[in-house]
Amino acid sequence: MAAELAHPETTSTTAPSPTEELIRFEGVGKRFTVDGKPLQAVEGIDLSVFEGEILTLVGPSGCGKSTLLNMSAGLFAPSDGKVLYRGEQVKPYNPSVGYMTQSDHLLPWRDVVGNISIPLEIKGLSKREIGDRVAELLDMVGLSGFETSFPSQLSGGMRKRCALARLLAYNPETLLMDEPFAALDAMLRMRMQIEIRELCRRLGKTVMFVTHDLDEAIAIGDRCVVFTRRPGTIERIVDIPLAPDRDILRLRHDPAYMEITAQLWEVLAPSVGVED
Ligand SMILES: Nc1ncnc2c1ncn2[C@@H]1O[C@H](COP(=O)(O)OP(=O)(O)O)[C@@H](O)[C@H]1O
Ligand SMILES: [Mg+2]
Repeated sequence: MAAELAHPETTSTTAPSPTEELIRFEGVGKRFTVDGKPLQAVEGIDLSVFEGEILTLVGPSGCGKSTLLNMSAGLFAPSDGKVLYRGEQVKPYNPSVGYMTQSDHLLPWRDVVGNISIPLEIKGLSKREIGDRVAELLDMVGLSGFETSFPSQLSGGMRKRCALARLLAYNPETLLMDEPFAALDAMLRMRMQIEIRELCRRLGKTVMFVTHDLDEAIAIGDRCVVFTRRPGTIERIVDIPLAPDRDILRLRHDPAYMEITAQLWEVLAPSVGVED
């Protein structure tokens, strides 16, 4: 298990400061029972997530990335060690986090406004308050003009925007994003990467962003955690040495990007093509 190579406070170019520890994994392991046999998904995870940072998690399929997000959300308890949120052990369920997965879970019988309104209705806001807040969220995610469209009438990117607006309507302090753009084509994916980074920075959100795509992990992240194959352990944690206001569209020509990609690829390469 590798130690953290750097703390965001030591690298002023990569993360906002000052930073406070929001989530902490302390010696975390998780076992499942599958067909009556124990399956060690992750083990020995020591990891801190700092306020305001975008932490990307990359590693081979089945190494336990989603399991770590699930434990942060309080959906699973760890088998060993502790998961803390602002110093308190995470219980079911962690109200400070919002979760976005690959599938958007939009309600097909509700239009865009109806879907985004759900958390606001649950909170008991008045019709007027909901209207104002939804308009603000639609503007934020670039969906103004699509208020009355139903999910089936939206493109893949618009559905993501709608799901993102609904997530932001809860106003969670931390966003857990589990391969949210995996199903999008390459160009749209890049567009969403640009927007999510810009939006999270502007709103000061803390983000744990899981991807199996190293390029995405580098483009979006302030720091990147690389996992080994299952049982997932932390192979490396690196600062991403790119400007906070990086131009994701043109990263491929940036020598710093090329260097960090090559460096992380060497770390990830041994896991490629190895079956669970
Ligand atoms: N609820 C569960 N019950 C049984 N096994 C699970 C469960 N969740 C995850 N696993 C297993 O734990 C391992 C890690 O899964 P996961 O966290 O989904 O990996 P990743 O997101 O990195 O692909 C996999 O082998 C998976 O099958
Ligand atoms: Mg997963």
